[in-house]
Amino acid sequence: MQNYFSIPNAAIFDHELIDSGHKAIVDAMNEIVKAFNDDPGSECLPLLRRLDDAMRSHFAEEEAIMETVNYYDVVVHKDQHQDILGKLNKIIESYIAGDSNCVEQVHNLFHIAVTDLMQADLPLKSFLEGIGYIQKQNREPVS
Ligand SMILES: [Fe+2]
Ligand SMILES: [Fe+2]
Repeated sequence: MQNYFSIPNAAIFDHELIDSGHKAIVDAMNEIVKAFNDDPGSECLPLLRRLDDAMRSHFAEEEAIMETVNYYDVVVHKDQHQDILGKLNKIIESYIAGDSNCVEQVHNLFHIAVTDLMQADLPLKSFLEGIGYIQKQNREPVS
């Protein structure tokens, strides 16, 4: 399957729970884009709901880690999670209402999810590395 979205190297934590959560989100997004591309009229509601589940699970797990380690920016980071869930919910509602702009909205949301959300996770990653919760990586920068 062609992947439309992927996790930037910098956003890989080398932490099983966080990385698998991000993968589940990106996998769900790729499936939705593929479904819309194959057939704009295809039944995407179960896929959208699966994405919602994947996001909620990951956010809950990530927030539990943030609480455990007393992450300094936990309130703002939780707000960002809520914000994207709200946007996804609006898309699900407009999809149910038969809004034909759904494909575009999905693309916009995914752009936000991959850029902003992953960006928001980067300071968390640095923090977790700083306290030794995860190993600092020596990855080659992606060109
Ligand atoms: Fe996050
Ligand atoms: Fe995350």
